[in-house]
Amino acid sequence: MRFSTSVIAAAGLLSTANAAIKGFNYGANFNNNQAKTLVDFEYEFNAAKTLPGTNGWTSARLYTMIQHGTTNTVIEAIQAAINTKTTLLLGLWASAGQSNFDNEIIALKAAIAQFGTAFTDLVEGISVGSEDLYRITPTGIENMSGAGAQPQELINYVQQTRTAIRGTPLDGKPVGHVDTWTVYVNATNNDFISTLDFLGMDAYPYFQTTMANGVGSASQLFFDAYHQTLGAAQGKPVWVTETGWPVSGQTLNQAVPNADNARIYWEDVTCQLVADNINLWYYTLQDVQLGNPSPSFGIKPAGDLQAVQPLFDLSCPADANPRSSVLLPSATTSSCNCMGSSTSAGLPTTRLSAPAPTFTHTITVTRISSSSVSVPIPVSSSRAPAPVPPPNTPLPAPSSIVPVPMPVPAPSSRRSATPSVPTNISPGLQTPLIPPTLIVTVNKNSGSIIAGNGGTAQLSPFLSPVFAFDIGQEHRGKICNLVFYTPPARPFLDLGPIQIRIPGGIRVSLLSTTTAGLDNGLRVNLGPVDIRLNTGTQLGLSLSITPGNQYNVGSMPCPAGQRVAFQVDSLLGLTVDFFQMTSPPLGLFMVPV
Ligand SMILES: *[C@@H]1O[C@H](CO)[C@@H](O)[C@H](O)[C@H]1NC(C)=O
Ligand SMILES: *[C@@H]1O[C@H](CO)[C@@H](O)[C@H](O)[C@H]1NC(C)=O
Repeated sequence: MRFSTSVIAAAGLLSTANAAIKGFNYGANFNNNQAKTLVDFEYEFNAAKTLPGTNGWTSARLYTMIQHGTTNTVIEAIQAAINTKTTLLLGLWASAGQSNFDNEIIALKAAIAQFGTAFTDLVEGISVGSEDLYRITPTGIENMSGAGAQPQELINYVQQTRTAIRGTPLDGKPVGHVDTWTVYVNATNNDFISTLDFLGMDAYPYFQTTMANGVGSASQLFFDAYHQTLGAAQGKPVWVTETGWPVSGQTLNQAVPNADNARIYWEDVTCQLVADNINLWYYTLQDVQLGNPSPSFGIKPAGDLQAVQPLFDLSCPADANPRSSVLLPSATTSSCNCMGSSTSAGLPTTRLSAPAPTFTHTITVTRISSSSVSVPIPVSSSRAPAPVPPPNTPLPAPSSIVPVPMPVPAPSSRRSATPSVPTNISPGLQTPLIPPTLIVTVNKNSGSIIAGNGGTAQLSPFLSPVFAFDIGQEHRGKICNLVFYTPPARPFLDLGPIQIRIPGGIRVSLLSTTTAGLDNGLRVNLGPVDIRLNTGTQLGLSLSITPGNQYNVGSMPCPAGQRVAFQVDSLLGLTVDFFQMTSPPLGLFMVPV
């Protein structure tokens, strides 16, 4: 059994400091939402191997098996890992509902079929999910971290993953989960922990703002978290799947981001983990590609990744001694015989109305003027017949969208011990809000669906989300206001549900729907009806979308008993993705009055 070998290593009988896995986290896309391709992944994996003062940083943790922007094509990081002999902690995104998880499994199986053991020999483990349980906690909600998944749902996904790899060369690889340490010490999650082969722990003392979190205390905070996780791990190995100290950004409580402090953190935490032979995927190698995230955790600055020098010294002191107290349960090899911990079969699956994956922790929100500008409404596209309004729905007059600022919560509420979840952010907010039944992001030039039926919407010069609403009969006779909400900017927006990558505005159109195949425009099926893309009646536009606003798009008599659909187009380059959510409101809503 390999575990006994690890115990020996952990006990310090092997002198090599390189026995455990060392790697970095790798998102599927750059900050501007551009997908990383084979050459990008190869470039990053090779750069990690040649960091001055280090050796053996040859593992990659991924967040998804799916190539960014595709439905279920295998992520090109797999080929890059094979080409560069990089080992893999695979990730299956688990916060976007069953249909997205099905696509993760499809891509996983496709990778096994396509690459065989050239791929599977590199796999150190498979993580089902990433911070899904953190995002459903009060803190995760308070920080607007996006949709997560319930423990039972994750138990189902672990079972589905084990079933998918049974009888394949991945059979026997550890199947685990990645989450913040706070999740593992929450006893509600014990049943889920019992289904796992390993616990991937994310811990960032920088964000632990309710505690003394200066860099001098960071090692204490980190290893406290690690020990608490070990204590809750039911004997499973604990791998450090994300940690790091920012090189730039905002000071949080006593935590000052800069390269000097990142060096101190590296020495106190990273070097200690290496000395202790604990598997580690640091966050991160470089996070400033095609964007300017704040905080930034990258050890390399902007520029050609292989050419630029690290921002701080990465060597480890020769005298780092293993601390035996942290070793035994955590040190393990990648080839544990983990098949004993399967979950019971036949559990019901649940569906979350939830976002598709975003794989970076880093965004920049650019504040620009929130004044709306009136511009002429363009006539509808010439490629399709004139728009046909849904029956009984008089056309609203086109207008520019008037933003109404929403109050920003007092800073103190972010640090309260029991964070409150705002349910009614704007005093003037009319409730109830009708959320969309369906959100589908389409390539408006080709009509192909990029992401469908999750809670996520992507906007770029080429990508337009379509929001479909089913308006209940109870709203007959009322006026329905169409409102686009952006939550107030918060210090933690880098983990948040809205990522404004390039500023700009929006234009909202009421789409014509059809049940008959009569037009030559681009059609997308939205359940009971098809919609014709790019043919809508322009309702309103704003040349600037910024956090903390309510954009009143337009009003119409409520189309009671009908499905109506709206296309939102990017103006002036706006590139953003967001998770539609109701508390606080984010995205497009109908507000009946
Ligand atoms: C504990 O875990 C459950 C289930 O994951 C979650 O709903 C709950 O909010 C967590 N409690 C705290 C205080 O984080
Ligand atoms: C989230 O919110 C909590 C409490 O409001 C705060 O202490 C913490 O620093 C925030 N940020 C993160 C990333 O957890």
